[in-house]
Parts: sequence; structure tokens; C-alpha cells
Amino acid sequence: FKVTWDVAAAEKAGYEHFMMKEICEEPKAIKDTIGPRIKNGRVVLDDIELTEEYVKNIGKIHIVACGTAYHAGVIAKYIIEKTARIPVEVDVASEFRYRDPIVTDKDMAIIISQSGETLDTLFALREAKKKGARVLSIVNVVESTIARESDDVLYTWAGPEIAIASTKAYNAQLCALYLLTLELAYKRGCMSEEQYKNIIEGLQTIPDAIEDILGNKGAIQRFASSHCNVKNIFFIGRGLDYALSMEGSLKLKEVSYIHSEAYAGGELKHGTIALIEDGTLVVCPVTQDDLMDKMISNIKEVKARGATVLAIARESNEQVHKVADEVFTIPDVDPFIAPVAAVTPLQLFAYYMAVVKGCDVDKPRNLTKSVTVE
Ligand code: AGP
Repeated sequence: FKVTWDVAAAEKAGYEHFMMKEICEEPKAIKDTIGPRIKNGRVVLDDIELTEEYVKNIGKIHIVACGTAYHAGVIAKYIIEKTARIPVEVDVASEFRYRDPIVTDKDMAIIISQSGETLDTLFALREAKKKGARVLSIVNVVESTIARESDDVLYTWAGPEIAIASTKAYNAQLCALYLLTLELAYKRGCMSEEQYKNIIEGLQTIPDAIEDILGNKGAIQRFASSHCNVKNIFFIGRGLDYALSMEGSLKLKEVSYIHSEAYAGGELKHGTIALIEDGTLVVCPVTQDDLMDKMISNIKEVKARGATVLAIARESNEQVHKVADEVFTIPDVDPFIAPVAAVTPLQLFAYYMAVVKGCDVDKPRNLTKSVTVE
């Protein structure tokens, strides 16, 4: 679809910016993406046929995308490898298409794109297809070029995303990837009925969890206002929280023009901690129970060097309140699916930093909604 700005402006429905409107549409985007695909407690991926025999013989999964969609792909690597035990490689499309990747006809390529028109991603799709992979794309625009050139399409039903910074589409991409992961893991016999059921039920609680987060967005706004003059921000996380940090960092950079970097918590001591000094702002998603102690020590490390730390943590996490300067709590969703909800405070943080800096939130400088050039 092509949107003229004056027409679109009429559709802000009372929100100051499309970005906030679209963040607030996340509960609906998730319900619309998951709802039609859960039938009698089972995942049904539309008309996509993934037989047990096929799934058990997948050689490797290549996930290819750009920007926010790439960050969704990094989350998918962690969850697919952890459950379905299929090797996953994630590439940014502009690298995949030129590195002569090793792809066989036993492989699946998962192509992720909100617009379905990103040129690098389209050419990467063609590269994977030429090498024999089965191409399954996760796309938000029906009948877009990437959708039309894929063997299978699992649409996200996030609705039109007007703001250049992608928000609800990312949450919806994650949901589609979790559904696909459930199918792969269950059909490979790697997931118990109980785990399968728990993940489905967990995903169905996310819309309400995000409504709670949105109900408390003022806390994020206040934190952003009190830190709007920072020049550099670090996002630090481990496991799924590291993958999530990548998206938090990109959101902040592209709408507020503040430099930031996402770092694996365990990598700090290999160099980056040298950059932490008095007043450095560090944002830490801390939703993974199995990595909690490690993240708590990372928070202590950066605080000992003068950093101010904002943690994004689940309600039940009491430890983090003892070490972080500020904690934004999210409802107690299962850690395995936490990214779908924990990204929302990071999106809100980027939004409020951009607003307080007077940036053009919906149309950041130098950016376009779909990069259809190389
Ligand atoms: C995300 O906020 C950015 N606007 C950008 O990185 C975007 O995710 C990227 O260009 C990929 O776009 P696509 O999902 O439409 O392919």
C-alpha cells in the first residue's frame, strides 16, 4: 500500500505520533497474528504444510532480514535451537547475498520483512532459493514482492505500519516465529505436550501483559525526560535479552539520534567496560531467570564505574531492585516468551527520548519505511 502523509495524518486517531499509536496497537496485532492459528490448543500455520518427515530432515535454517526484522531473526535463532534443535544461522540480508552462503536443498530459509519490499532481503531470498532452500517468509504486507516469491508465507497481521520505526510489526514477527518454532519442535519430537501447551497459553497472555505495560508508560516517559541529554547509551543483556537489546538500541538510534550500542553482558570485560564512566546510561533487559545472577553482576560492574542503570524486569524479580537505579517491571510472563512483551518498554523509551528531544518521531532524518534501493 502507498500512504500519502496527509491521508495518513487523519488516521492518527488522536495520538500525537503514529509510532505511539502503533505501539498501542500491539495487543491487537498479537491477537490477530496468533488467534487464527491456535485451533483447539494446536498450532495451525494456515495452509503451510510442514510434515514430520520434512521437519525431521531439515539440514539448517537460514534466517535472513534487515534491521528490526533481523533482530526478530536473532530471537528466533535462540528459541528454535533451544527447542527444535535445528542449527540456525542468522544473517543481515546485505551480507548473506554476497558471501556465497552454504545452502542446500535440505535447508529452510526464513525471510522476515514488514514491508515485503526490502531489496536486500528480496535478493537474499532469491539467493537462498537459487541454492535450493525452501523459502518461508514472515511478512506484514499481503501480496508484497517477498511474499509472492516465497514458497510459503506466514503473514503477520499487525495492520499497516506507518511510522518509519517498526514497533508492532516486530512484536507480531516474534509471535509468528514462536508459532513456527512450536511446530518445528513438536513435530521433531523435541517438545512435550505440557511445554507446547504452556508456551501457547503464555503467548495468549501477552496482549494483556502489554496492556499493563502501556498503562504504566508514564514511568518510562519520566525516566526518558530525566536522561534526555545523555550522549551514549548501552543496552546490555544475555541470551534472549541480548537479542532484545539489539532492537532496543536500533529503536533509540533511529528516532532520537542518540548513539547507543547493544552488548552481550559477558562481553563487557573484553573491552567495552572501558567506556563506562560517571553518568553513562545503561539499559538492561533482565528477563531470563537462568542468566539472572550473571546479569546482576554485570549491573554491579557498570554501576561500580559510575553508570546509571535502568533495568526491565519481570515483577517476580526482587534481586534487580537491589542493584539497579530504576526498574521498569513487566508482568510475570514466561522467560521463554518474555521478549514479545519486554520489547515494548524499550520501544516506549526510544519514543519518549525522541519526543523530549523534539525529533521528527514518525519520519526520522535520512530514513524511509521500506529500503527498496541497495
Ligand atoms: C526498523 O525500525 C527500521 N525502520 C528498519 O531497520 C527496518 O526494520 C528494515 O529496513 C527492514 O524493513 P522490512 O522489515 O520492511 O524489510
